[in-house]
Amino acid sequence: MRMLRRPLGKGSVAMTAAALSLAIVALLSLFFANNTQAQPPAPAQVAEEPAPPEGQTYTGSKRCSSCHFEAFMSWKKTNHAKAFDNMPAKYKKGADTSCLTCHITAYGHPAGYKGASTPDLLGVTCEACHGPGSKHEEVAKAFADAKKLSPEQEKAARDSIWKVMPGNVCSRCHISQGHKAHPAYDKQ
Ligand code: HEC
Ligand code: HEC
Ligand code: HEC
Ligand code: HEC
Repeated sequence: MRMLRRPLGKGSVAMTAAALSLAIVALLSLFFANNTQAQPPAPAQVAEEPAPPEGQTYTGSKRCSSCHFEAFMSWKKTNHAKAFDNMPAKYKKGADTSCLTCHITAYGHPAGYKGASTPDLLGVTCEACHGPGSKHEEVAKAFADAKKLSPEQEKAARDSIWKVMPGNVCSRCHISQGHKAHPAYDKQ
């Protein structure tokens, strides 16, 4: 609308108005034309992602990095990667284990964090958002020698892990979305 701030002669205002109404008519007819032909989106476009195989265990972020190096490097820079390290020392030593449900991956899950033997699950790792990936790794490993994956191979690899876990995975930890405050803790 900056155009209209310039001093305009009567003629050009009229021309602008005429051009505008033409444009509106054109837009409206486009809208209606589209609407009469409107189709619901093809089922393929709205189809839910297939559920990955059940019974996967958590591998830890290092194993993911062997095939997803760029994703790993960009994740590494985030506070998700440091979510355990950033906690004050006494909580890292276990002063309040309730913290760990959000500052460690799969805490309390039988296939998840098990202490010192699973250091790659400290923090909010890949599998906190993508779900456990042991079978995904198995599926993808079978194609490891291929220079370029065939569409079928790529689909098999993609279908074996969540693109993002369903059910608004972020809000499992980012509880302020549920109008709750972060648990109180001692900052030293
Ligand atoms: C042996 C190699 C390999 C390993 C290990 C691996 N992936 Fe993958 N992953 C792939 C391939 C291949 C694809 C298919 C897409 C592509 O070519 O990048 C893929 C796809 C994905 C996708 C996309 C899923 C989709 O629905 O589009 C995600 C997310 C993913 N991997 C996460 C992970 C996570 C998390 C780990 C660790 C638990 C992991 N991957 C371990 C090879 C691997
Ligand atoms: C329900 C999940 C959840 C629990 C339980 C939890 N946290 Fe957090 N914590 C978060 C999230 C999410 C953030 C990031 C907050 C943000 O950036 O909005 C965070 C941020 C932090 C930070 C970064 C600095 C800050 O204060 O923002 C520290 C340190 C921290 N939490 C320590 C703890 C400690 C200690 C406990 C246990 C007493 C705990 N958290 C329990 C989810 C949780
Ligand atoms: C905080 C949650 C979170 C963490 C942690 C996380 N991701 Fe993701 N990741 C996502 C989201 C969200 C997307 C985007 C999905 C989309 O495009 O809809 C994504 C996308 C991806 C994709 C691309 C899928 C595609 O379209 O090809 C890969 C591969 C992937 N992540 C791997 C990883 C790996 C490996 C790690 C750990 C080093 C990791 N992610 C950590 C949430 C996360
Ligand atoms: C397992 C719990 C968990 C899940 C799931 C999770 N987060 Fe977080 N997120 C955290 C914690 C804990 C922190 C704070 C870490 C810290 O500051 O030490 C955080 C920090 C963040 C930050 C600040 C990052 C930075 O580098 O400062 C963003 C942005 C964020 N989360 C977005 C998301 C999104 C988007 C999703 C979902 C795709 C998600 N988170 C899923 C626990 C989680």
